[in-house]
Amino acid sequence: MSSLAIVHSRAQVGIQAISVTIEVHLTNGSAKLLIVGLPETAVKESQERVRSALLNAQFEFPLQRITINLAPADLPKEGGRFDLPIALGILAASRQIPADNLLDYEFVGELALNGDLRPVRGVLPMALKAREAQRELVVPFENATEAAMVSGVSILPVKHLLDICGHLQKSAIITPYCSKDTPNPATVKQIGDLSEVRGQHHAKRALEVAAAGGHNLLMMGPPGTGKTMLASRLPSILPPMTEKEALETATIASIARNGFDASSWAIRPFRAPHHTASGVALVGGGSHPRPGEVSLAHNGILFLDELPEFDKRVLEVLREPLESGHITISRAAHSAEFPANFQLIAAMNPCPCGYLGDSNNRCHCSPQQINRYRGRISGPMLDRIDLHIEVPNLPRSELRQDAIRETSEKVRARVIAAREIQIKRNGKPNNLLGNQEIEAVCRLTEADERLLDTAIEQLGLSARAWYRILKVARTIADLSGSEKIQTSHLTEAITYRRLERKS
Ligand SMILES: Nc1ncnc2c1ncn2[C@@H]1O[C@H](COP(=O)(O)OP(=O)(O)OP(=O)(O)O)[C@@H](O)[C@H]1O
Ligand SMILES: [Mg+2]
Ligand SMILES: [Zn+2]
Repeated sequence: MSSLAIVHSRAQVGIQAISVTIEVHLTNGSAKLLIVGLPETAVKESQERVRSALLNAQFEFPLQRITINLAPADLPKEGGRFDLPIALGILAASRQIPADNLLDYEFVGELALNGDLRPVRGVLPMALKAREAQRELVVPFENATEAAMVSGVSILPVKHLLDICGHLQKSAIITPYCSKDTPNPATVKQIGDLSEVRGQHHAKRALEVAAAGGHNLLMMGPPGTGKTMLASRLPSILPPMTEKEALETATIASIARNGFDASSWAIRPFRAPHHTASGVALVGGGSHPRPGEVSLAHNGILFLDELPEFDKRVLEVLREPLESGHITISRAAHSAEFPANFQLIAAMNPCPCGYLGDSNNRCHCSPQQINRYRGRISGPMLDRIDLHIEVPNLPRSELRQDAIRETSEKVRARVIAAREIQIKRNGKPNNLLGNQEIEAVCRLTEADERLLDTAIEQLGLSARAWYRILKVARTIADLSGSEKIQTSHLTEAITYRRLERKS
């Protein structure tokens, strides 16, 4: 006598949840368990957990020849998540639970030896796919909130193997999970208000332009002038996330080391990795590739404080996502691609001691030291940063005088209005415009075109800089509600590239 059961589950590759079919085949012969399609160590561990969970839940472990095939075979499969579908396949094939409606579901979950279910990573992308496949999704209880971020799919939360068996036997039906508090996309975590920053009007203006068009920004200035303070307030003036963006960002968090946290739903990420962080931590990697900081910052901000202190090789790797919005991680066996469309905000001191240009002449760095320090950031990297600004040390009197300061809320209203114009015109923020789109929507008068050519020549900038300046000019025009780019918009955009020349 032989019998077969088929169970649906999903593997996680990059941010994809790829369909995996688990076939369990029982045949007469000496008792033996063979699992095909999983790496050897994962097989051993899974085998032990499944056997023990079944026995502890008072089921029989069939004393037959059991062949389990996880297809397709060439996907990287982490062991744990397939415990539940494997266990259910064995139960269905040995007729201990009904097999007829098994195919209406997808299952995922790691089993503890006593039959409890442990959470796994990446259930959010699974839920999206289960919805597409029109199947119900069975997940460990602790993963339910995350899976329920996806609307229009039935999520069945399970604490113990017996719960789902009872459901399939129709003796104790599980009610689909419904998150009690639907996340509110309007909430911005309290991160400090722009009005707390005194003076630095030039920097605040640049921050507003960066926010409106999604442009990258580099701040240079001596210690304690407010660079970190300004950067950390950027999220408070950014436009809200769309549902699509929120899902993308949550998906990356879902497969990352720390997992997804429902309280950060639809809040633009602000990632500020330390300069001592490893390359893998920053750009992602590992034998089963995980997203790094650049991907965790997707649709939000990557803040690199003390930019020249970062490993030069790591900074060079950032060039790819800065241009394309995603990052490819190649491993011997597989390569994974993760989204990494972040807004780069960087801060640095003008020299190693930090005080170059300071009115008290405190800096004693040699020109060679200064050159070496700045040389850590390559030309191509600087080229990708649209706005370069100085954040100088201000006299106390000036700081004290600056009594009436705009709140983040007011600035954010202007940013949102400018962003709406962009979405209406091109369906995306200005920083994502391609060269042809730029030529179409950033028309200059003949005189302005000559002005830009001269500036590019004088500043020794590249062709890429030419397009980037136009994008920033477009954003400045959008902020003032102007359909055409005017000379003042263009000259302001050029101003933001002057510092590059100095350095
Ligand atoms: N323009 C400012 N308005 C109000 N407070 C300020 C301003 N600049 C600095 N401060 C105060 O000084 C502290 C240090 O500022 P911040 O950390 O932003 O400096 P920084 O420019 O990042 O310095 P570093 O180069 O050392 O990193 C802030 O926490 C704030 O209390
Ligand atoms: Mg700082
Ligand atoms: Zn110095």
